[in-house]
Amino acid sequence: MLSLSVVVIDDDASQRNILSGFLVKAGCSVISCENGTQCIDKVRKQYVDVVITDFRMPGMDGLEVLKKVKDINPEIQVILMTAYGTVEDAVEAMKNGAWDYLSKPVDLDELELKLKKVADHNSLVKENQLLKSQIKSESIITNFIYKSESIEEVLNLVARVSDSNASVLIQGESGTGKEMIAKAIHQASPRKDKPFVAVNCAAIPETLFESELFGHEKGAFTGAHQRTKGRFEIAEGGTIFLDEVADIPLQFQVKLLRVIQEREFQRLGSPQIIKSDIRILSATNKNMQKLVEEEMFRADLFFRLNVIPITIPPLRKRREDIPELVEYFIKKHSRINRRDVSAISTEGLDVLLKYDYPGNVRELENIIERAVILARNQVITRDDLPIFSAVSSSLTLNESMPARVEHLEKILIAEAMQNAHGVQTKAAELLGISERVLRYKLGKYEIS
Ligand SMILES: Nc1ncnc2c1ncn2[C@@H]1O[C@H](COP(=O)(O)OP(=O)(O)OP(=O)(O)O)[C@@H](O)[C@H]1O
Ligand SMILES: [Mg+2]
Repeated sequence: MLSLSVVVIDDDASQRNILSGFLVKAGCSVISCENGTQCIDKVRKQYVDVVITDFRMPGMDGLEVLKKVKDINPEIQVILMTAYGTVEDAVEAMKNGAWDYLSKPVDLDELELKLKKVADHNSLVKENQLLKSQIKSESIITNFIYKSESIEEVLNLVARVSDSNASVLIQGESGTGKEMIAKAIHQASPRKDKPFVAVNCAAIPETLFESELFGHEKGAFTGAHQRTKGRFEIAEGGTIFLDEVADIPLQFQVKLLRVIQEREFQRLGSPQIIKSDIRILSATNKNMQKLVEEEMFRADLFFRLNVIPITIPPLRKRREDIPELVEYFIKKHSRINRRDVSAISTEGLDVLLKYDYPGNVRELENIIERAVILARNQVITRDDLPIFSAVSSSLTLNESMPARVEHLEKILIAEAMQNAHGVQTKAAELLGISERVLRYKLGKYEIS
């Protein structure tokens, strides 16, 4: 069965009927037209796989039909029917992108064979498109490790918004993977071969925002020795990632809003208006709604940036991701540090599963990196997570605040002592406390 949608054009009614009847029997859905204009009308309005058209007709001829159809949708295949002997017509048609031609009177078996080829071709094209979209989402999934449904949902959303140009605001605590998600959106978007430019808004001094983002001309301000491109110009055609977006100074927010709305900007000190085609992604670990309510962030800019909100939950709310992340990071850091560590003991993993990770995935990765380096053999044990395991099991949200502060303090002091190789002066310096206070706390927590 040929399940194709076919338009048949012939000014000769009996020819049309023979063809249509045959095609319907072969399983096609058929629209029959007596001239090219009718056909173009249909093609504009509904989905069509193939157009079979007579070459010589009053009004629009076959070649014109071919060109118009291809203009509307190049994926529609056109087969021309030529009277016996007009080879030049056929050649001309093929040059203009016709799929094939048939000589009149039409051999119906031959027609069926040619349509079968179109059907095969179309299913191949579809398969390819599917494969491509799978590769796209796989590349996100292979480096974004997860098991939880909440992250699955985040990645589904990523896949759905990637194709569009909509601004996305990614919210989540520090170390949850906001930048990874931003890169994944860019990679899966049609802009993937253009630049991805990340701007850390918290790191730019207030006075330099405009020149950093939009660039400046030579002499635009003291110290502007040469014309410099801003991040927007560098990112042209691609994606700009405004990281720590909550830290954009209020006075600059209005300028950014205007650029987003008008899709054009000027270098500082230049009258030239530069058109800009850029996708804007942003991220923050702050509560933006609250900042808007407190008038620390402009509501209008917030709405522009937050067309699609994506929230990444903290690691402690998706503990089921921990084992996979641990396994992934063990492999990664064994490889990087040329160690032979390949697993973690059940007790070790237990400790990691109970911890709350204020620094989220980044903190977990640091813990594993350290354990891989310190591990005494191929399997990381609880003892390879020393400072951590001593206190982490009681470091849960059930504890009172002062108790948790004490635990954290103990971890930090022990860590500083380790980093300072037991030299108290140095450890006190690392912690930013006096040596006298350090000695007192060492005694209190019984750290040697
Ligand atoms: N699901 C994950 N799979 C693998 N690695 C991850 C995952 N989530 C985060 N990471 C790793 O954790 C670290 C922090 O990720 P990222 O920089 O994207 O977080 P962030 O939310 O932007 O953090 P911050 O708020 O501190 O800027 C990176 O090294 C990243 O590779
Ligand atoms: Mg980040």
